[in-house]
Amino acid sequence: MRGDRSPTPSTTLLFAEPPTASPSPPSTSARAAGCSTGRSPPRLWRTLVERVSNIDTIAVHPDHRGQGIATRILDLVEDDFRQAGYRALTLRHEHGKKHFFTARGYSSLPRLAVDLPPTGLFTRAEPGWKFAVKPLDDTVTLTSQRGVTTITGLLD
Ligand SMILES: CC(C)(COP(=O)(O)OP(=O)(O)OC[C@H]1O[C@@H](n2cnc3c(N)ncnc32)[C@H](O)[C@@H]1OP(=O)(O)O)[C@@H](O)C(=O)NCCC(=O)NCCS
Repeated sequence: MRGDRSPTPSTTLLFAEPPTASPSPPSTSARAAGCSTGRSPPRLWRTLVERVSNIDTIAVHPDHRGQGIATRILDLVEDDFRQAGYRALTLRHEHGKKHFFTARGYSSLPRLAVDLPPTGLFTRAEPGWKFAVKPLDDTVTLTSQRGVTTITGLLD
């Protein structure tokens, strides 16, 4: 985040990073598929890292919640990631925080899924957690693939 726009940093915490943890790296079968299509696995993975941003944690001190601080941080971070060329933002959250994220335009999903044609779907689920997902530009949409809400269009 840019320093001149940072809201009350003493009361907030945000860890954002490229998505080394989301979704899972390509599997052996995906590697084979990636090679057969000419898009090598490291290149495929690098493309994902370049296009999907991930917030590991956002937290506001309990004394300062309900004042719009987290909303403002998310707005700023979304703008920054968008300007940096990322196409989607993901964030793992507890089930009880679903409303907070859906009210801010995120889809709250039980499973993180990414469509990587022609290789297929990469998915990740963690018991007790949900994944908030927000497309950051028009090339990315959430579609239903085999009944799973899936981030689609990342490689277009
Ligand atoms: C989730 C969390 C980050 C939200 O932080 P926050 O600063 O309280 O969030 P906001 O103030 O932007 O929004 C919270 C509510 O306050 C309301 N609000 C915002 N500004 C307000 C204001 N000026 N006056 C009154 N209410 C306001 C919002 O409408 C929102 O309600 P809604 O969710 O029903 O829409 C905070 O609860 C937290 O740190 N939780 C623990 C960590 C966590 O679970 N993080 C998420 C996953 S990593």
